[in-house]
Amino acid sequence: MINEKVAALLNEQINKEIYSAYLYLDMSNYFDARGLDGFAKWYMVQAREELDHALRIYRYMQDNDSAVTLLAIEQPSRGYDNTLDVLNTALEHEEYVTNSIHTIYCEADKQHDLRTMEFLQWFINEQGEEETNARDLITKLRIFANDGKGLYLLNQELGERE
Ligand code: FEO
Repeated sequence: MINEKVAALLNEQINKEIYSAYLYLDMSNYFDARGLDGFAKWYMVQAREELDHALRIYRYMQDNDSAVTLLAIEQPSRGYDNTLDVLNTALEHEEYVTNSIHTIYCEADKQHDLRTMEFLQWFINEQGEEETNARDLITKLRIFANDGKGLYLLNQELGERE
C-alpha cells in the first residue's frame, strides 16, 4: 500500500507527465507548421515518452491498490518567439519535473514508503538524462544553426531519433 500523501503526489504527477506529453506535442506542432520536420519528429518522440512516464505511474498505483483520479489537462500553447525559445522552455519544463519527482521522493522517504522510493529511482535517473538532452539541444542550436545550412543539418540529425 502506498502512503496516502505520497499517493496524492503520484496522482498529480500522472497529470504533470500527461501535460508534458501535451506540451511536447505542441512543440512538435510548432515545428511541423514551419517545415522543420526533424525538430517536429524529435518532439513527437518526446511526447510519446512522456505518455509512457504517465502510464508507468498509473500502473504502479493500480498495482498497489491505490486509487487514481484523472485530472484536467491544462492547455499548453503559449506561442513561441523562435526555435531557441521552444528549446529553452523545454529545458525549464524538465527542471520543473525534476523538482516535482524529487519532492515525491522526499515525501516517500519521510513516510518510510520504501517501495515508492525504489520505484522513483528510475524517474530520478530519467530526469537527469532528459535535462542533459534538452541542454545539449540548446548547445547544438547555438553552435551549429547560425545559418540555413546549419539549421538544415541539425534538423536532419534530429529527424533520426527513434
Ligand atoms: Fe517525464 Fe520529461 O518528464
